[in-house]
Amino acid sequence: MKTRITEMLGIQHPIVQGGMHFVGFAEMAAAVSNAGGLGIITALTQRTPADLANEIARCRDMTNKPIGVNLTFLPSVNQPDYPGYVKAIIGGGVKVVETAGNNPVQVLPILKEHGIKVVHKCTAVRHALKAQKIGCDAVSVDGFECGGHPGEDDIPNFILLPRAMDELDIPFIASGGMADGRSLVAAMALGAEGMNMGTRFIATKEAPVHENVKQALVAASELDTRLVMRPLRNTERVLTNPAVERLLQKEKELGSTLKFEDIIEEVAGVYPKIMIDGQMDAGAWSCGMVAGLIYDIPTCKELIDRIMAEAEEIITQRLAGFLKH
Ligand SMILES: Cc1cc2nc3c(=O)[nH]c(=O)nc-3n(C[C@H](O)[C@H](O)[C@H](O)COP(=O)(O)O)c2cc1C
Repeated sequence: MKTRITEMLGIQHPIVQGGMHFVGFAEMAAAVSNAGGLGIITALTQRTPADLANEIARCRDMTNKPIGVNLTFLPSVNQPDYPGYVKAIIGGGVKVVETAGNNPVQVLPILKEHGIKVVHKCTAVRHALKAQKIGCDAVSVDGFECGGHPGEDDIPNFILLPRAMDELDIPFIASGGMADGRSLVAAMALGAEGMNMGTRFIATKEAPVHENVKQALVAASELDTRLVMRPLRNTERVLTNPAVERLLQKEKELGSTLKFEDIIEEVAGVYPKIMIDGQMDAGAWSCGMVAGLIYDIPTCKELIDRIMAEAEEIITQRLAGFLKH
């Protein structure tokens, strides 16, 4: 399939693996890129810029296909060393950066100067337009269904994607709730030129996470995610577990007086415990409603090949069939 996104990113299939904390290691990114999509290393999972440089080098040893790096701008007091991470990205010869959180205006000039394509992931049309205005090459439009941070507008992709198409000139990738060939065709019908998957890629053979995480995704249904941290206007969609239900109870009891410190036990330092140690009740971890569409644990190549074959079958058989009289 050829779209403005496949051309821009230099990939065979219009499928991107979104940055994921403690999932987006070299193994994950290389597996997706080797399968013809775009694999993305998550910068902030690497403790220092030197660690990121090392992770990029490890990934380069595993694939000669294009890879990307996710740079998430957090609303934190102790800001990570973003200039250092950017240096590691440039030094590693990475040609695509997925930015998220705040808009990437602070790093855009230097990335563009080095010929790096910037895809900004955002959850609102107004943020997508801002990204276009400041010079991003593309956007990933992340609907309310998504795992992670869906923003505060709660607009699902059936509305968000065609709204993005109506407003944007730059190409965009559909993100949130994407799992299979049906997702890809639907996203493209709604105006996208590729799709981004997070949760679905965690349930693959190569995803460098504990087997318990993969099994939890296969077992989960579309009813099993919860929105946490809404009172802090930092909403995150996570898979439910006893820690998440405890967190929600605190939110209910404390109401508008809730502070981050009140829920620190359920959210801080949770990712290594879940993703590496497989302690599934350790706290809140991002997961999309798409868990309800995950039934197996294929390799990334099996998953991507299956998506592309299914998409082609839908376009040429199922949809074309409707036009035959
Ligand atoms: C476990 C997990 C961790 C994530 N961490 C990040 C992150 O650090 N930065 C980021 O920009 N997005 C992060 N995301 C969001 C994904 O990149 C992607 O936008 C999202 O998963 C798409 O929705 P889906 O899960 O329905 O496919 C994360 C998602 C998951 C499931």
